[in-house]
Amino acid sequence: MPEFRHRGGTMAAIKLFLSLFVGLCAYYFYSEETLSPEMVQGKRVLVTGSSTGIGEQIAYEFARMGAHLLLTARREKQLKEVAQKCLELGASSARYVVSDMNNLISAQNVIEEARNKLGGLNYLVLNHVGGSGGFRLFQGDMATVTSSMTVNFLSYVQLTVSAMTMLQESQGSIIVISSMSGRIGTPFTLSYSAAKFALEGFYSSLRRELHLQQINLSVTIAVLGYIDTDNAVKIVGDKITMKANPKEECAQVVVRAGVLRHREVIYPYWSQKPLLLLKEWIPGLLERLLDKFFIMENIR
Ligand SMILES: NC(=O)c1ccc[n+]([C@@H]2O[C@H](COP(=O)([O-])OP(=O)(O)OC[C@H]3O[C@@H](n4cnc5c(N)ncnc54)[C@H](OP(=O)(O)O)[C@@H]3O)[C@@H](O)[C@H]2O)c1
Ligand SMILES: *[C@@H]1O[C@H](CO)[C@@H](O)[C@H](O)[C@H]1NC(C)=O
Repeated sequence: MPEFRHRGGTMAAIKLFLSLFVGLCAYYFYSEETLSPEMVQGKRVLVTGSSTGIGEQIAYEFARMGAHLLLTARREKQLKEVAQKCLELGASSARYVVSDMNNLISAQNVIEEARNKLGGLNYLVLNHVGGSGGFRLFQGDMATVTSSMTVNFLSYVQLTVSAMTMLQESQGSIIVISSMSGRIGTPFTLSYSAAKFALEGFYSSLRRELHLQQINLSVTIAVLGYIDTDNAVKIVGDKITMKANPKEECAQVVVRAGVLRHREVIYPYWSQKPLLLLKEWIPGLLERLLDKFFIMENIR
């Protein structure tokens, strides 16, 4: 009899556990807040590297929801066109500032511009990328390592440092565009991968510091797979066998996660998340899997 009671108790515990688990899953998948334009209407957004590619699409997403936009990159003509299109899509305002992120003073000036023109900042979207020298064998070129770390890491930190007061005042958000190359070492693009790993370290640590100080400032890290921007396709299109994912959907997913203040977003989720899990569990298998994607004849 006591044994029977014991079995009953175990069953009850299992049932309780299962219902809790199902409940949690349901909560996770369905109760998730939905994105509404009012959350973004009138908010002040800076998007770096917004003259083309994913940054351009992120700007359009914020524009459709009525944000005030400040765009930045090096090419004025492109920025002007993107700003114009932002207005057509419904932005409350759209400005741009020409700036080269290879220079940290320029990064500070961009934030000054945000302060002067927008009077504050709700979203800092760190997206620009450059200076990492294409997709080729690493041949000890220190200048490339230095420029990649400056453009792709240090300038992100500088922008963040300079914008910190404004972001705290607005209880705003930082959205950092990272990559699978910031989670898994990637051949032929060592300097880029190094900068992305550095971003992951800095911004995941910053998120904890802010939290422990009870500062309401969200940090969203976007871990992206291969996206079909003109530049990415030009650089790696004939060197890897992966299929590129649409930049428009990518921008949508990233902006949604940022506005909902999620800590992380992986896009495209179902093809990339398993790779991240494999990395911890069976790294050797992951390496063999990924090695098959490179078209070695086209890489020097
Ligand atoms: N596309 C992908 O497959 C992929 C995959 C994973 C992660 N990502 C990440 O997604 C983000 C956007 O990538 P993307 O493919 O959209 O790149 P992209 O099309 O090459 O655009 C890069 C942007 O950065 C700007 N930029 C480049 N060098 C700069 C500099 N020195 N100073 C200031 N701005 C500079 C460019 O404008 P100007 O030339 O006018 O300066 C452009 O607006 C990056 O963080 C990238 O690492 C992309
Ligand atoms: C944190 O900031 C967001 C956006 O400004 C706001 O919606 C939320 O209520 C704030 N949370 C707390 C705990 O103050």
